[in-house]
Formats: sequence, C-alpha cells, structure tokens
Amino acid sequence: MPELITPTVRLRTSFLAAVAEFHAEPGQPVPWFVNDVDPPALTDPEAFAPYVARVLAERTEAGMRADAGVPMTTLWWAEGDELLGRLAIRHRLTPSLERIGGHIGYDVRPTARRHGHATAMLAAALPVAAELGITGALLTCDATNTASRHVIETNGGHLIATKGPKLRYLVPTSGAPTT
Ligand SMILES: CC(C)(COP(=O)(O)OP(=O)(O)OC[C@H]1O[C@@H](n2cnc3c(N)ncnc32)[C@H](O)[C@@H]1OP(=O)(O)O)[C@@H](O)C(=O)NCCC(=O)NCCS
Repeated sequence: MPELITPTVRLRTSFLAAVAEFHAEPGQPVPWFVNDVDPPALTDPEAFAPYVARVLAERTEAGMRADAGVPMTTLWWAEGDELLGRLAIRHRLTPSLERIGGHIGYDVRPTARRHGHATAMLAAALPVAAELGITGALLTCDATNTASRHVIETNGGHLIATKGPKLRYLVPTSGAPTT
C-alpha cells in the first residue's frame, strides 16, 4: 500500500527517475520542485543527502524557503522503494499563497497517474495538515485542471471563489472521506 513518508535518501534512485519523467513530459511545465532539486544531487550520490536535509529543514522557521515565506512540510507518496508522488503542506498562508498555491500542492509522477494516487495522497495529508493546526486547507487549481479538481472535490473541497483561471477550494482537514 502506498503511504506518505518523510523524504529519505533510500528513495534516491526512484526520485531521480521521477524527476527525469517530469522533464520528459511533453507539453507540460516542469513542476517547481523538480527545478528546485540541488543540481549536484542529480548526479552525485553524496549530494543527495544534503538535498533531502534541506527539504526537511524547510519545515522549520529557521530553514523555511525565502520564496514561500512560511515553513513547509514536504512528504513523499511511496510504495516500498518507489516514489509515486510528492506533496507539500504550507503551515500558514501569505497574501501570495492566498491567491496561488494555498496550503497544499501535489504532483504525481507521469507514469503513476490515473491510479487514484493523488486522491489518496491528499486524503492521507489532511490529518497531517490538521496536526499542523490547519482546520480548513485552502487549495488552488486551474479551472482547466480536471484531474486536480476531482482530487480536491473527492476530498470534500468546497469551491469558495473563482478568480480568472484559478479556482479556490476550502477542504476540511477532519472528517474527510477516506479512499
Ligand atoms: C493532477 C494530478 C496530481 C492527478 O494525479 P492522479 O494520481 O492521476 O489523480 P487520480 O488518479 O487520483 O485521479 C483523480 C480524478 O481525476 C481524473 N483524472 C486523472 N487524470 C485526468 C486527466 N488527465 N483528465 C481528466 N480526468 C483525469 C481521474 O479519473 C479521477 O477521477 P474520479 O475522481 O472521478 O475517479 C496529476 O495529473 C499531476 O501531477 N499533474 C501535474 C501537476 C498538477 O497539476 N498538480 C496539481 C496542481 S493544483
């Protein structure tokens, strides 16, 4: 059974394969987290642990990303040693995240899509968000992103606003349906 796990060097090989898949996906923008991987970590096994450590440090006020402006918990969705997707929970919102990004963002690697992973991954993340004190998670997605809209709505998301091409949903973090 896939599960949400703390990022770990154990999944290095699969993580790098997933990164290559995202780069090779035709006609799709490369997710920001792929471009964010420290370049040495892509080739040097010794550099992967510092990259993972940096991602883990982003959970703290001291290590938070300057561009996010808030601590962020990154989790990986994995089955055994295979990475299927990743998800990040921002611990609070900024005016910028209120507009785009919200509390939670996620990606499923191209070869693992349409197997229910994003739906299950978000369901598994909602209790984690609740533990972080988030009672209602703001999620934003493009109106054209049918898959993400399904993921959010299946997890109890209520559409609260539409601004241009962006939809804003509020997802209760407790009492969400399990998948
Ligand atoms: C959006 C994304 C995370 C969905 O991942 P996934 O694991 O394929 O999603 P699921 O398998 O849980 O599918 C959820 C629903 O969307 C539907 N779906 C999946 N891909 C679809 C597609 N390309 N077109 C239409 N519907 C799609 C599924 O059939 C399912 O429908 P259901 O709820 O009626 O059963 C994935 O496509 C992805 O990583 N996209 C790029 C990054 C992205 O858009 N992230 C979200 C930003 S808001």
